[in-house]
Amino acid sequence: MNSLESAVTYFETAFREEISKIQSTAPPKLYEPVGYSLIIGGKRLRPALMLHAASLFTESVEHVLPAAMAIEIFHNFTLLHDDIMDHADLRRGLPTVHKKYSENTAILSGDAMSIIAFKYLARGSHDRLPELLDLFSTTALQVCEGQQLDMDYETMENVSIENYIEMIRLKTAVLIGCSLKIGALLANANPTQANLLYEYGINVGLAFQLQDDWLDVYGNPDLFGKSKGGDICANKKTYLLLKAIDACDPATLLELNLWLARTDFDPIQKIAVVTAIYEKTGVSEQTQKLMNHYHSKALEALEQMTIPPASRETLKAFAGEAIVRNK
Ligand code: IPE
Ligand code: IPE
Ligand code: MG
Ligand code: MG
Ligand code: MG
Repeated sequence: MNSLESAVTYFETAFREEISKIQSTAPPKLYEPVGYSLIIGGKRLRPALMLHAASLFTESVEHVLPAAMAIEIFHNFTLLHDDIMDHADLRRGLPTVHKKYSENTAILSGDAMSIIAFKYLARGSHDRLPELLDLFSTTALQVCEGQQLDMDYETMENVSIENYIEMIRLKTAVLIGCSLKIGALLANANPTQANLLYEYGINVGLAFQLQDDWLDVYGNPDLFGKSKGGDICANKKTYLLLKAIDACDPATLLELNLWLARTDFDPIQKIAVVTAIYEKTGVSEQTQKLMNHYHSKALEALEQMTIPPASRETLKAFAGEAIVRNK
C-alpha cells in the first residue's frame, strides 16, 4: 500500500458495505442521518493513514479495517456535533446534518456514531485491544477538551498563541496521531516506531488545522465545501485572528474589537472588514510560515524512522499536501 490513494480506495470499498448496513437499521430517524453523513464523502484521511501505517510493518492489513472504520465514524461524529456548535450550514458542499434533519437528530445520531465507533474498534479478538481502547478513549476525550477550549476562546480575550496551539493539538492533531499509532500497533510495530509515527501525526495535524483555518478565509467554497468566513463570524481565535490582534495599529485594533463585540451584524460585512485587516497585517504569510515549521517537524520525526524509502516518501508527500490542500 504505497500510496494513500490506494489506501483510500481499499478502505472505501469495505466501508460502503458497512454504511449500507448501518443505514438500513431501525429506527430510520436515528440511522439514516448516520448514513447520510458517512456517504457524502470526506477525504478519508484518517483511515487511509491508519492502513498505510500498518502496511509499513506488515503485508496484510485486512485486520486493520474495523479500526479504520472506527476512526472514520468517530471523526464524522465529531463533525455532526461540531457543526451544531459552530452554526455551520454546509459541509462537503451539502447541508449539515442539523440543517437537513434537526439539531436533536444531529445530537442523537452523533451519539450513536460515537458508540458505533467503539463497537468497530472492539471487533476482532486481537490481544492489543486494552492498549487500543486506552489510546482511542484518551484521544476521544482530548478531542472533547479541545472542542471545549475552542468554544471558551470565542468569548475570551487574551488567548495566547500557546493556548491556540494546545487547543488545535487537542481538537485535531491527536486524532491524526492516534490513527497512525493504532495502525502501527495493529501491525506489531515496536513502540519507538509507533511513537515516532504519532509524533509525525501530531505535527501534520497542527499544520492541517492551520490550513483548515486559512481555507476558512481564503479557500474556494466550491472545493472546500464549507461556508466561507464561518470562523470570522463565530469569533474563532484562529492563528490568523491572534496574529492580526498582535500586529495591528491602535485604530485598527479598535475597529477589530468593535466587530468582535457586535452580536448583531451582517456576516458579509464582518467577513469583508476582518479579511481586509488580515490583508493589512500580513497574517496569511505568517500562517504559511508556522505551517512550514510543523511540516519540518513532521519530516524530522519521519527521518528517525526505520521504514522503506517508498513508504517514507508517501508520508512526506502527505505532510506536504496537508499544507497546500484546497479541500
Ligand atoms: C475536518 O476534517 C475537521 C478538521 C479537523 C479540520 P477533514 O478535513 O479531514 O474533513 P473530511 O472528512 O475530509 O470532510
Ligand atoms: C475541527 O475544527 C475540529 C473537530 C471537528 C473536532 P473546525 O470547526 O475548524 O472544523 P471544520 O472547519 O468545521 O471542519
Ligand atoms: Mg467547525
Ligand atoms: Mg469547530
Ligand atoms: Mg475549520
